[in-house]
Amino acid sequence: MAILANHNAHHPAMHALVYHGPHRVTWEEKPRPEICEPTDAIVRITMTTLCGTDLHILRGDVPSIGDSRILGHEGVGIIEEIGPGVHDFHVGDCVVISVITACGRCHFCKVGMPSHCLDGGWLLGNRIDGTQAEFVRVPYADNGLHRLAPDCDQEAAVMLSCALPTGLECGVLSGHVKPGDTVAIVGAGPVGLATLLAAQLYSPREIILIDLDDNRLAAARQLGATRTVNSSDGKAVEQVMLLTDGAGVDVAIEAVGLAATFNICQAILAPGGHLANVGVHGKAVELHLETLWSANMTLTTRLIDGGTTPMLLKMMEAGKLNAQKLVSHRFKLAEILQAYETFGDAAAHRAIKVVLST
Ligand SMILES: NC(=O)c1ccc[n+]([C@@H]2O[C@H](COP(=O)([O-])OP(=O)(O)OC[C@H]3O[C@@H](n4cnc5c(N)ncnc54)[C@H](O)[C@@H]3O)[C@@H](O)[C@H]2O)c1
Ligand SMILES: [Zn+2]
Ligand SMILES: [Zn+2]
Repeated sequence: MAILANHNAHHPAMHALVYHGPHRVTWEEKPRPEICEPTDAIVRITMTTLCGTDLHILRGDVPSIGDSRILGHEGVGIIEEIGPGVHDFHVGDCVVISVITACGRCHFCKVGMPSHCLDGGWLLGNRIDGTQAEFVRVPYADNGLHRLAPDCDQEAAVMLSCALPTGLECGVLSGHVKPGDTVAIVGAGPVGLATLLAAQLYSPREIILIDLDDNRLAAARQLGATRTVNSSDGKAVEQVMLLTDGAGVDVAIEAVGLAATFNICQAILAPGGHLANVGVHGKAVELHLETLWSANMTLTTRLIDGGTTPMLLKMMEAGKLNAQKLVSHRFKLAEILQAYETFGDAAAHRAIKVVLST
């Protein structure tokens, strides 16, 4: 520790949550990030949160992540420093950080798929150091940051980094939810519940939430689910078919990332239905083409792009999005290991989204 302190004489230190392989994270001292490219910004984190994807990382489901990586891809903060190539932001601006980094110039950025940017995509808390830290370097800051009012609700705003645009883009838009539809969302975690909020923008007739956790299902009913199914008895498919008079659902959204939940989705689709996968999967699933080949169904997979974040931000500012209702627990950033325990055993702690402030 003493050596680190000396070493960092003109390179101040900070604290961060660091990944050291599956099931091993520590809260440790790291050098503060510095501007590397002219288009970088350094953001001082004031609010961050944990994602189900961080839990997948801890289980070893995300092989792209390296040792000693600072985790986290969601955050709100204050710009501390900008490179000379950042034009749209200033030091002192309050911003929300998008999970996706976009150069804005490559083929995939130009076709509206920055999730696959050739010099970006999902970098933060994956291929570069992330937001579960006191400071973070944000590449291509003009594209990856969104300005917030200084007095905004930061707990609500941090849902715009990943959870809400993921639910809208990967779940609702990919699943083509439309007025009058019957929608099932498997997984009532923050992403499943954000999908529930986003789905209601399209006036579906029914939204059925499926999970093992009664507390999260109760939250789903408060947030607008018309039906909920606890699938711990292994009978989710039968229950959804009963609730839909045998018809099945127009849209099934997978928001967990397991074979068991993907299987529920493929078994409850009505003819012409859409199966929108949102969950991060660490293992193969079986696609039942022996029954689905004639179902006229569409299967989509997607990594969040974040293109809907400006629209979601406007709705939030207008009071038309209940994002703050997703927050169940508040911690200080330094208590992040406790926050991981709470979020990782959500049912025992009645947890939904866990936010951390500095
Ligand atoms: N595609 C993307 O770009 C993207 C972006 C963000 C998150 N994700 C993924 O979305 C998923 C959900 O994220 P989250 O933050 O809500 O995670 P989470 O871990 O908080 O929620 C997962 C939920 O699934 C439920 N669940 C687990 N096993 C189940 C089973 N067998 N049957 C029914 N329910 C079950 C849990 O009780 C929990 O409520 C994760 O896989 C995450 O990695 C994907
Ligand atoms: Zn996320
Ligand atoms: Zn690009």
